[in-house]
Amino acid sequence: MSSQSNPKILFSRQEIEATVRKLAAEIRKDYQGKSPLLVGILKGSFMFMADLIRLLDFPLEVDFIRLSSYGRGRESSGKVKVVQDLSSQVRGREVLVIEDIVDTGITISFLLDYLRKKKPASLRLCALTDKPSRRRVPVTIDYLGFTVSDKFLVGYGLDWDEKFRNLPDICVLEE
Ligand code: IMP
Ligand code: MG
Repeated sequence: MSSQSNPKILFSRQEIEATVRKLAAEIRKDYQGKSPLLVGILKGSFMFMADLIRLLDFPLEVDFIRLSSYGRGRESSGKVKVVQDLSSQVRGREVLVIEDIVDTGITISFLLDYLRKKKPASLRLCALTDKPSRRRVPVTIDYLGFTVSDKFLVGYGLDWDEKFRNLPDICVLEE
């Protein structure tokens, strides 16, 4: 695959909007009267986070963490590191992690363990997309948008080699 590949729409911006609305409605119901800390995983989740929080009507805080696991290619190296840490305290907070995609599950299970050690009051996961057929580590997703087969997705924050994050739709690269 090259960066010349032609992105083909898998989920349109309208479908994404409807799914983000559905997720926001579920989250609103569960977090009413609370003031959670939403933790976005950089870089992929920034667009999803921005759309989601505008639909949440309770007080909340936003923070970001940057993890490394992928090199420049498609496969997870299996080793995860915190590259840029949170600036917020996690202890005693209701923490909701916002992720773009769960693939092997290695990245997110590392992060959930990392956060759990900081003793949050609660810890949940919201993921826009999930590729369950690729799972190597079990992961519970509390709020899930789309389930997809084993395809490499770009757009709406998702990249291939840092490109295509700006596409407004979720796309598959044509070979
Ligand atoms: P995991 O550790 O294999 O679950 O990988 C999760 C991370 O890999 C995500 O946060 C993404 O950054 C990246 N990733 C996995 N699948 C895709 C994809 O289809 N498109 C773009 N990035 C992906
Ligand atoms: Mg990511």
